Amino acid sequence: MSLLIKGATIVTAMDEYRADVLIEAGKIVAIGDNMESRATDVVDARGRYLLPGGVDQHTHFALPFGGTFTRGFETTTAAAVGGTTTIVDFAPQISGLGLIDSVLKHEEEQAKGKSAVDYSFHGIVMDVSQRLFDEIPMLPDNGIPTVKLFMAYKGTPFMVDDGTLYRYLSDARAHGITVMVHAENGDLIDVLQKACVRAGELEPRFHAVSRPPLVEAEATARAMSIAAMAEAPIFVVHVSCREAAAAIRSAYLAGQQAYGETCPHYLTLTVDDLAKPDFEGAKYVCSPALRSKDHLDALWQAVSRGWLQVVGSDHCGFDWRTQKHLGRDDFTKIPNGAPGVQHRMEVMWTYGVETGKITRQKMVDLCCTAPARFNGLFPRKGHIGVGSDADLVVWDPGHRGKMTAADSLEGVDFTPYEGMQQKGRAQKVFLRGNLTVEDGKFIGTLGQGRWVKGDPYGAAYKGL
Ligand code: URP
Ligand code: ZN
Ligand code: ZN
Repeated sequence: MSLLIKGATIVTAMDEYRADVLIEAGKIVAIGDNMESRATDVVDARGRYLLPGGVDQHTHFALPFGGTFTRGFETTTAAAVGGTTTIVDFAPQISGLGLIDSVLKHEEEQAKGKSAVDYSFHGIVMDVSQRLFDEIPMLPDNGIPTVKLFMAYKGTPFMVDDGTLYRYLSDARAHGITVMVHAENGDLIDVLQKACVRAGELEPRFHAVSRPPLVEAEATARAMSIAAMAEAPIFVVHVSCREAAAAIRSAYLAGQQAYGETCPHYLTLTVDDLAKPDFEGAKYVCSPALRSKDHLDALWQAVSRGWLQVVGSDHCGFDWRTQKHLGRDDFTKIPNGAPGVQHRMEVMWTYGVETGKITRQKMVDLCCTAPARFNGLFPRKGHIGVGSDADLVVWDPGHRGKMTAADSLEGVDFTPYEGMQQKGRAQKVFLRGNLTVEDGKFIGTLGQGRWVKGDPYGAAYKGL
């Protein structure tokens, strides 16, 4: 069987051109013209763009947080309908186990047989012991080329000290492991949170008061210094403020392999959302916190100029009524994180491409190609090229609608983008050549997603 996608304008991170794409056995085998005689099936995609399937390098399916769990991999159908065909999920380390066993368990118990899209993993350090360091050389062969360490969430197993971060960076470097950091000063947040609670400042908006830009900026600059001392690459996830983006840029300009990601919510939502009445603000409790409009402008500039290289969703499928309400009387108890895997590419197209803030190529780079590179998945994923997996999105730029939880497959009762205008959508999505989304509806099967193991040295590639 061979499938021809005909008539679309192909958009890659590099260029844009009109050509047909021939697919056999799940791979792109030819790009060109006049290939009808080689095809058993033809999809007419005239008037639309053909994008690589999205790679969302920042998802939290089945994440334990604040005494509850995010929705599981059965909701990865939401990724597919949004045009994302590969996710890189953060697998939490299980107390008493190393990262390898923790990732294997997460794959076996959560992802296998359930995922609607292909998946890869980062480890999350949550139980520091000598074993954690001893197993670093074995991580790449076990499909773990990236590991996240948290400088925040004091009082939980997430937070590590600077010494651990330095040791991990130093040891990981020789094996091509990219260390990702959650850069916020956990000690200061702890003090500021306690001050809020003492003062009876308990509503969701105080989440941002207790996590001002400076706690993120300070930790990001510190992470840059620690990485410089360790002479290791570093990747800062979910950058939300101007100063943190600037710290990464300065480190990069000084010769460090320093990179960063921001998220659609930091580019479109503000601290005012946290102040919505009747506990609506809890829907916007994520860390780092949402910022004021001037930070949004700075982040758009950072992504368009390449100072931040990736846009990930930081998807956390928490329900508002049943889970965010755990913090009804105290914002410090609201589970941190918001759903977003479905709307990531729609937000970037609507508020980035359609407004002229970024080009189509840049959108593809941020949402598909750069995350594939950083996670060792390029050129198999995130690219339209001969030999790449046929993960393809027929993108209809003429679609007009509104983002709403009612149309969402994220399995929760809200989206932070509720009611926002949507221009463009993933009309058809192919996962390894199989049609998985048709007219915006999921028509694939749960369990069709496979574990795609990333290669090490993703942050060492040249040409950024
Ligand atoms: O608020 C967030 N981001 N929750 C998920 C965990 C993390 O820090 O990435
Ligand atoms: Zn984080
Ligand atoms: Zn996250």
